[in-house]
Amino acid sequence: MEEKMQVYEELVARGLIAQVTNEEEIRDMVNNGKATFYIGFDPTADSLHVGHFMALCLMKRLQEAGNKPIALIGGGTGYIGSHTVVELQNSGYEVVIVDNLSNSRADVVDHIEQISGIRPAFEKVDCLDFEGMDAVFAKYPGIKGIIHFAASKAVGESVQKPLMYYRNNLVSLINLLELMPKHGVEGIIFSSSCTVYGQPDHLPVTEAAPIKKAESPYGNTKQINEEIIRDTVASGSPIHAILLRYFNPIGAHPTALIGELPNGVPQNLIPYLTQTAMGIREKLSVFGDDYNTPDGSCIRDYIYVVDLAKAHVIAMDRILNGKQKDKVEVFNIGTGRGLSVLELINAFEAATGVKLNYQIVGRRAGDIEQVWADPSYANNELGWKADTSIEETLRSAWKWQLHLREEGIM
Ligand code: NAD
Ligand code: WQD
Repeated sequence: MEEKMQVYEELVARGLIAQVTNEEEIRDMVNNGKATFYIGFDPTADSLHVGHFMALCLMKRLQEAGNKPIALIGGGTGYIGSHTVVELQNSGYEVVIVDNLSNSRADVVDHIEQISGIRPAFEKVDCLDFEGMDAVFAKYPGIKGIIHFAASKAVGESVQKPLMYYRNNLVSLINLLELMPKHGVEGIIFSSSCTVYGQPDHLPVTEAAPIKKAESPYGNTKQINEEIIRDTVASGSPIHAILLRYFNPIGAHPTALIGELPNGVPQNLIPYLTQTAMGIREKLSVFGDDYNTPDGSCIRDYIYVVDLAKAHVIAMDRILNGKQKDKVEVFNIGTGRGLSVLELINAFEAATGVKLNYQIVGRRAGDIEQVWADPSYANNELGWKADTSIEETLRSAWKWQLHLREEGIM
């Protein structure tokens, strides 16, 4: 009996079966295509009883599960990871999330399920824990690809705690690269950053631009991570990799069920801006209006997080379908549009109708003056394009902030 309950709980946890309690729910699932048929099942009894009050919907997914590629998403309850999980599920991937919840909440898994209708498997494991990760791969045989979001990402904190950043961001990747061949995992998509370019000599910046000396230990971990992947592949490891260099991801899922949850006082522009608009912060400080840009404020390439998430699905398909040109490929994931801080503030006010309290203050140490992507390689080679307008993106960020207030989170 205990064994049967374990199997039952495992299937529920993996989202392969759904528990329903009345016929109306069953009809609803069948009519909406989530289940093809149902069997009545009382896990405490010895046999199956069709029509028993505790019916189980056996999902279409169960039949298809054997054919679906399985992806392991490290850091999958985080900001970019959670949006990517939804897009992977929408594209037919079976997802296993691994996250130590150091910078995210367990209920993100519920919210992902609310959006996609599919509950991803979730393992609270630290990527630094080699044996723990080994056990995850053994528990979910057939994982074909990894997306590695799990990292510490606060630039300022990395200056204060460099060893913590080097350990977390380097060792977690090394563990995955060591475990991949053992478990037959074909490819890894790595979350890199435009920070590797520093202040580029030419704009927009292409993938061929030189890597500049990192401004922070965080930035350095991204550069070293890229090198670790290249060296591993060059050494003859059977794996494939795609390095995605994100520009500035912003916004939230249109449902406002998932988004960015900054810890404490936000360091990044958009969470600080939306918290100011909400009255949580008194004033947004614009760091500098004396840069060599048209309005004097810094310029960045702000990309909608859902557009960014979709790039991962295409990259994963590319690896698994053997479409890569090289075993390690690099893509800029940006819009190709540079916006200044002041332009962004104006766009936010225009898109939401909310007036923002802000002041110009001095420059922030370590800021790059201006950077935006040349995304044409990703556009042409991946057939991917960031096409959401800045207004829609900023409305989604504001909707997310309102949702956090409604939920009493912030
Ligand atoms: P995030 O902090 O929201 O997500 C990272 C997730 O990884 C969190 O859920 C955290 O709990 C988890 N995590 C951290 N260390 C872990 C470990 N050792 N084991 C297991 N889980 C661990 O960050 P995000 O904004 O979603 O960023 C995702 C990735 O993209 C990071 O690698 C980040 O460096 C990179 N990136 C982010 C940005 C950005 O502006 N957000 C820009 C460029 C690159
Ligand atoms: C954007 C612009 C600020 C806050 C950082 C990391 C980078 C990458 C993304 C991961 C800048 C200005 C900000 C504020 C402001 N992460 N600003 N007032 O600095 O481009 O990049 O996050 O890899 O590595 O360095 O992003 O959101 O902090 O700043 O005026 O209160 O907004 O000066 O011009 P940044 P950001």
